[in-house]
Amino acid sequence: MKKGRMLYEGKAKQVFAVDDPGQALVYYKDDATAFNGEKKGVINSKGLLNNAISSLFFELLEKNGLETHFLKKIDDRSMLVKKLEIIPIEVVVRNIAAGSLAQRLGWEEGRDLGRPVVEFYYKDDALGDPLINRDHVAVLGLAAPAELDALEELGLKVNKILREYLAARNTLLVDFKLEFGRSGTSGAAGGKILLGDEISPDTCRFWDAVSREKLDKDRFRRDLGRVEEAYQEMFNRISG
Ligand code: TMP
Ligand code: ASP
Repeated sequence: MKKGRMLYEGKAKQVFAVDDPGQALVYYKDDATAFNGEKKGVINSKGLLNNAISSLFFELLEKNGLETHFLKKIDDRSMLVKKLEIIPIEVVVRNIAAGSLAQRLGWEEGRDLGRPVVEFYYKDDALGDPLINRDHVAVLGLAAPAELDALEELGLKVNKILREYLAARNTLLVDFKLEFGRSGTSGAAGGKILLGDEISPDTCRFWDAVSREKLDKDRFRRDLGRVEEAYQEMFNRISG
């Protein structure tokens, strides 16, 4: 397999063309940003750990019948994926109040929500990824109503699978963000929707079930120290 030209560079990943036009190579960087790129840094070994953690989670989801873009891990920092037309909606699923939900609702961080809460954000850096509802999705023409239903359903399914897997490893799944895309070269709405992007401590909140110690990117966002150690600890828990 030949690594071709770079198709796209994001804050934490690069995407390269490969021989097969229906596939792409995702390369995970050590670069870290927060607050819409305002805060920048490097987390040593993050690319390696996020590639490994994402690969394990995608394999777990596939094993449970959920289709993802993941094809295989290629090397320490790269995975081969199916090329998707990314839907510009960030699907956030929450189990415990934290981050922007804690702020918005005035709930203390750590309070159990009692049921999963699904939110949609418009993936647009210039606007700072604002929270949107179903009507906004329709007005913006981001996805058909049936597609949005599918995103919500898939988000809840991912939550159930990951939550149980992590609970057995003494870890709380507080919240996480997913991105989905349409597969097929036609790119037409109505194509199959697959889970894309990554699932890692960059895109999830993980807490130790007993001590509630943070084991995710909040350690970088909030300058809590031991950032790389937290990512390594999550890899150890998930792979063990
Ligand atoms: P929030 O509480 O800041 O809205 O974040 C909710 C979840 O989404 C949390 O697990 C972190 C993740 N997330 C991203 O992956 N990318 C982002 O740009 C943001 C704001 C959050
Ligand atoms: N807001 C993202 C985060 O905090 C990163 C970024 O937008 O720069 O996870």
